Amino acid sequence: MPGAAGLLLALLLSGGLGGGQEQQPQAHQQRGLFPAVLNLASNALITTNATCGEKGPEMYCKLVEHVPGQPVRNPQCRICNQNSSNPYQRHPITNAIDGKNTWWQSPSIKNGIEYHYVTITLDLQQVFQIAYVIVKAANSPRPGNWILERSLDDVEYKPWQYHAVTDTECLTLYNIHPRTGPPSYAKDDEVICTSFYSKIHPLENGEIHISLINGRPSADDPSPELLEFTSARYIRLRFQRIRTLNADLMMFAHKDPREIDPIVTRRYYYSVKDISVGGMCICYGHARACPLDPVTNKSRCECEHNTCGDSCDQCCPGFHQKPWRAGTFLTKTECEACNCHGKAEECYYDENVARRNLSLNIHGKYIGGGVCVNCTQNTAGINCETCIDGFFRPKGVSPNYPRPCQPCHCDPIGSLNDVCVKDEKRTQRGLAPGSCHCKPGFRGVSCDRCARGYTGYPDCKPCNCSGAGSTNEDPCFGPCHCKENVEGGDCSRCKSSFFNLQEENHKGCDECFCSGVSNRCQSSYWTYGHIKDMSGWYLTDLSGHVRVSPQQDDSEPPQQVSIRSVEAQRSLPQRYYWSAPAVYLGNKLTAAGGQLTFTISYDFEEEEEDTERVLQIMVILEGSDLRISTAQDEVYLQPYEEHIHALSLKEELFTIHGTNFPVSRREFMTVLANVKRVLIQITYSLGMDATF
Ligand SMILES: *[C@@H]1O[C@H](CO)[C@@H](O)[C@H](O)[C@H]1NC(C)=O
Ligand SMILES: *[C@@H]1O[C@H](CO)[C@@H](O)[C@H](O)[C@H]1NC(C)=O
Ligand SMILES: *[C@@H]1O[C@H](CO)[C@@H](O)[C@H](O)[C@H]1NC(C)=O
Ligand SMILES: *[C@@H]1O[C@H](CO)[C@@H](O)[C@H](O)[C@H]1NC(C)=O
Ligand SMILES: *[C@@H]1O[C@H](CO)[C@@H](O)[C@H](O)[C@H]1NC(C)=O
Ligand SMILES: *[C@@H]1O[C@H](CO)[C@@H](O)[C@H](O)[C@H]1NC(C)=O
Repeated sequence: MPGAAGLLLALLLSGGLGGGQEQQPQAHQQRGLFPAVLNLASNALITTNATCGEKGPEMYCKLVEHVPGQPVRNPQCRICNQNSSNPYQRHPITNAIDGKNTWWQSPSIKNGIEYHYVTITLDLQQVFQIAYVIVKAANSPRPGNWILERSLDDVEYKPWQYHAVTDTECLTLYNIHPRTGPPSYAKDDEVICTSFYSKIHPLENGEIHISLINGRPSADDPSPELLEFTSARYIRLRFQRIRTLNADLMMFAHKDPREIDPIVTRRYYYSVKDISVGGMCICYGHARACPLDPVTNKSRCECEHNTCGDSCDQCCPGFHQKPWRAGTFLTKTECEACNCHGKAEECYYDENVARRNLSLNIHGKYIGGGVCVNCTQNTAGINCETCIDGFFRPKGVSPNYPRPCQPCHCDPIGSLNDVCVKDEKRTQRGLAPGSCHCKPGFRGVSCDRCARGYTGYPDCKPCNCSGAGSTNEDPCFGPCHCKENVEGGDCSRCKSSFFNLQEENHKGCDECFCSGVSNRCQSSYWTYGHIKDMSGWYLTDLSGHVRVSPQQDDSEPPQQVSIRSVEAQRSLPQRYYWSAPAVYLGNKLTAAGGQLTFTISYDFEEEEEDTERVLQIMVILEGSDLRISTAQDEVYLQPYEEHIHALSLKEELFTIHGTNFPVSRREFMTVLANVKRVLIQITYSLGMDATF
């Protein structure tokens, strides 16, 4: 954009009782959502590799009836038999999770010392976050040495907690320094070894409480490590030594097993009355409930926050403006809808698009990376905001409209291709949407005519005189009469000290303004370029006596200023104007021929209707006792939609303010030589048919 002097101004106007910042719905719930902790064992599949009486009736005796130091007196021994019709003789592993007073029991070591090694496995049938495991013994002491393990796949198991009869055995058996006293945890994923729950007493009905979340450092807002540590589908209790009385232990060590009184060995077995596994579905902070699906027997999160999937682990279709994120105990996250202007159901997140601020969100800001998929109705683009090749969206037609794209009509002879200018944002070289790209010598919206200076459609051969530089009514008929600032036999050259030959320029070329230093000039001027800093703008009336400061956005420096219309009207009941800061003032001669560019949008409060408004835009320049202004430009704008307004700084676009008198080039340059004020007036009204 050579010769461009752009200034970027985002004006946020709000109508009626409008509010600038408050229109974002207040987030009342700032925490993630989590389902309740339930006992997952009752719905688990449970197995073990050794059960009392599974190989036929077996006698066992109870340790509790043995009084140490006294002769065994009439020990009450009983039978277990998995095949028995008497339920009191059956002790299957399912008893451990049936919620009743029944229990599971392992074979006693009368059957062999290998029955110290018994494993119980629970399959929760899906991965859960486990908070605790509670094991209750029945008619035996709690297990002595054992490992609680977790797994996601039933192949690889990792330890959760080791238990040993003595602290020494933590080291000798498991190579872990014992945690003495009641279990405590220094790290989120620390695996401890404890003898706390392996005491011989109580001889019956002892309990083991293993906490996996509470008591760990990040329990209040679990860290990723803690979440990983507590995730499990399979839980394994790997028993490795039955707890025995010390006297009996000595006997086992020194005697041939066959010589040991079977009354003694029949007293040693494992028993489990109940296993509780407290845990919850993994819904990543996006569900407050997780009911069991009776068909699949699986729990499914009831996802909120626009998340989808069995565990809310992805954004729902059409909600990919921002990447999916897990919520935590303390912070809520949500998936945000893509803005496809109603032309697509689905979108995906593209980090590259997000980084380059190319995706418009539903609040009208270029924040996020949602890319719409399969835009319908001949629309295309990241937000379905433009058209497919061969179609265009006419000026004033919003992307929100139904069927906004119309077919291009490009003359096959005069056009380079079938593709026309698709929309206002993609306007090139002043061509309006719908304009075709013409071959040299052709012109017209459809390129179905010869350009001035060319003759004989469909051939369109060049004429003898330049169409841009000659005043000949028909440049094809000589002799050539050059425009005032043009020379050459065919009138195709600017005179010395002039530049920028344009057909629309009735003098052909613009005069250089080089402050007397030089009378040579080039066609390119850079002045203040892209000014992103919006500080210093204020609102005022035409007299300039009242100044009102707008709200600035959060960026540093502010890139956007806005005003609520009620606020503005309180101080400025008449027409009000946006007034530019000093950087735009003073000698701006070099901006002549360039462009003044700014961006406008507005939003509204919830109660108001989400309808399109007509904005009228006028730019006023003041300097050297002259006030000149542009005609009012009408723009149809949806809430949150952005309009980029580009004004060419050319005298023919201005009149003396308040009159229809044209501005001469001298007057225009006089103003630019010492700009005192730059004012932008924006008025608006509701609806398409509004009149002023
Ligand atoms: C248990 O009973 C089934 C038939 O009911 C029989 O096949 C099986 O051998 C019995 N098991 C034992 C250990 O007696
Ligand atoms: C039970 O399985 C474990 C492996 O998990 C094994 O070490 C143990 O010997 C088995 N016990 C019996 C009695 O088969
Ligand atoms: C679900 O569980 C019920 C009761 O536990 C059982 O009867 C049913 O067969 C199970 N269905 C499936 C699909 O596993
Ligand atoms: C995108 O916008 C942010 C502010 O919203 C800004 O800091 C950043 O520079 C912009 N990036 C590009 C590539 O324009
Ligand atoms: C988009 O369209 C293509 C081709 O018609 C189709 O294969 C694909 O499934 C569509 N995608 C979506 C998300 O609808
Ligand atoms: C164009 O100029 C050439 C000579 O340069 C002349 O022969 C010819 O007649 C001119 N054509 C017209 C249409 O004036």
